[in-house]
Amino acid sequence: MIVVRRVDELRAVIRAARVRGERIAFVPTMGALHDGHLALMQRARKDGECVVVSLFVNPAQFTEAVDLDGYPRDEARDVRLLESVGVHVLFAPAVDEVYPGGFATTVEVAELSVPLEGVARGPQHFRGVATVVTKLLNMVQPDAAFFGQKDAQQALIIQRLVRDLDLPVRIEICPTVREADGLAMSSRNALLDSAARQKAVTLWKALSAVEHAVARGETHTAIALAAGSILLKAEGIEPEYFAAVDAATLLPVTSFTGTTLIAIAARVGGVRLIDNVLIHREGAA
Ligand code: PAJ
Repeated sequence: MIVVRRVDELRAVIRAARVRGERIAFVPTMGALHDGHLALMQRARKDGECVVVSLFVNPAQFTEAVDLDGYPRDEARDVRLLESVGVHVLFAPAVDEVYPGGFATTVEVAELSVPLEGVARGPQHFRGVATVVTKLLNMVQPDAAFFGQKDAQQALIIQRLVRDLDLPVRIEICPTVREADGLAMSSRNALLDSAARQKAVTLWKALSAVEHAVARGETHTAIALAAGSILLKAEGIEPEYFAAVDAATLLPVTSFTGTTLIAIAARVGGVRLIDNVLIHREGAA
């Protein structure tokens, strides 16, 4: 695996791959890699002969300085994992390579950035994500880029900005990878102590309770969500949000029709976790 830290080096490596006729498949990350990230890279390997991964803890998308400082970082471990799944190029730039002095331009996806995480983390969060992803896509210029459904709102925002700005890349959203007990894999899980780790699975249990309610024929989102809320309350978890929204617009829905996103965010043992499931009701009017 080639490790590059500057955009001009990255471009030279990618130009060489293009000359060899390789397709470029790209996975942006903030490191602290786990099997959820590695699944994206395995998917990317099927799609391109040259798999490029970025590792950049993007300060612009962190609302709280403590969160940025506390974000788990271990580049040596990440490099070993990336090599184990056959990634070809790691782009790991310093902050001033991405944001040189005088940096003044941002990308903002209106509406989709407002609810859910937008409320909880403020408008700068998705502005930071949209701006850095636009930059990374321009730096790498991949044929395809791979993102996780785990961050459902982020995935939607990226699909929209690519469409709105005519970026010539195919975006693919890959399923959420979970621990054996159902907890969605996340770099932040490493920050959970053992009591909080046990409690954290309740987010998944609450989402599953909504799925089961729908499977039993429940059509009202409020009633299905209540089944999940009971489980959260029993564990003393007060979610920042636990909501049923239209999977394309993120607007609240009162009944399950078409595709509904059930999204949750909660602090468990001081660690902020998010998760979601998609519920399809075909033919429902
Ligand atoms: P990060 O949290 O490192 O996640 C990188 C990618 O891995 C994202 O597309 C995320 O959705 C995906 N991912 C995380 N956990 C997953 C899981 N359990 N299953 C499947 N995919 C998972 O998301 C970011 O970084 C940043 O916001 C970034 C897009 C890199 C911009 O800075």
